[in-house]
Amino acid sequence: MLIKIRRGWELPESAATPESVFTNRRTVLKGLAAGPLLAAGAAAPFAGGLGRALADEDEADPSAHLYPVDRNPAYTLERPLTPEDIATTYNNYYEFGSYKEIWQKAQALKIRPWTVEIDGLVEQPMTVAIDDLLAQMPLEERLYRHRCVEAWSIAVPYSGFPLKALLDFARPLGDAKYLVMQTFEDDDVAEGQRQFWYPWPYIEGLTMAEAANELAFIATGYYGKPIPKQNGAPLRLAVPWKYGFKHIKGIVRFSFTDERPVSFWEELAGHEYGFWANVNPDVPHPRWSQANERFYGPDGQERRPTLLHNGYAEQVASLYDGIENELLYM
Ligand code: MTE
Repeated sequence: MLIKIRRGWELPESAATPESVFTNRRTVLKGLAAGPLLAAGAAAPFAGGLGRALADEDEADPSAHLYPVDRNPAYTLERPLTPEDIATTYNNYYEFGSYKEIWQKAQALKIRPWTVEIDGLVEQPMTVAIDDLLAQMPLEERLYRHRCVEAWSIAVPYSGFPLKALLDFARPLGDAKYLVMQTFEDDDVAEGQRQFWYPWPYIEGLTMAEAANELAFIATGYYGKPIPKQNGAPLRLAVPWKYGFKHIKGIVRFSFTDERPVSFWEELAGHEYGFWANVNPDVPHPRWSQANERFYGPDGQERRPTLLHNGYAEQVASLYDGIENELLYM
């Protein structure tokens, strides 16, 4: 790369955000902890407006009648859930901006019609409409921890289906080694995609063994309703043992390949955001520690120790047995 790109949280707030928003936010945040990450309190002023926006969205979303779905008791948590108004207003979605308050901008995304391509090393490439796909998938709710590489974390109720169900539907060929996922591209609605120095579209990948792991999940709902646009509607990945940038949003394509893909952040800064990105408190990011995280809970922010594989080692550690000379935790 000729251009040295810095991610949004590495920029001074004033550079990452329009001046008016920045000035406003400074007032809101006055007195809260300083640092590159926004404090939880910043979400509160938006809560009323968001509630209305989500209610409108519920009415418009043809999948609304599918939720809530039954909770799978195998996936519950030891910690309280993050309040919905925080999880839906403090987001990363670079297509809509490199700062946290993108939820209003994300409402411009049209999520119907929405089709998903399934191609590459499969028995039969296909295009499927989101509502046809949803009708065929076994929907359930799971409570998952979510750990961003930036060292903040949330605990959220996703609804959706195991990624394994999509693999069974897609029927990959035996020589497929990786699943590659791709986000929509439309710079009319997603102005971040006009920033030519990012390698759009957003791409992420998993090995086939990771994709088939019981924890790998496609989220289509959030807090018992269709998942909001800012959180990745109509479908996003949830692989809770990995850092958040693997959790690709707004997916339009699943491709099966025998070549390891180069993901969006890996292409920008592979020495900082690698392919594997498994959570590990003992392996610092090159520029900050990962030992602790800032958990956004019902009582505000709480500092907690980071857990190996984000607490999911029992389910996933064996996936990495015998893999050598790889930066598994970067
Ligand atoms: N997916 C796309 N397409 N674009 C993004 O910028 N950001 C990632 C991930 N998925 C991102 C994305 C990052 S860095 C994180 S931490 C999570 O989304 C945040 O998910 P949330 O906003 O729903 O909590």
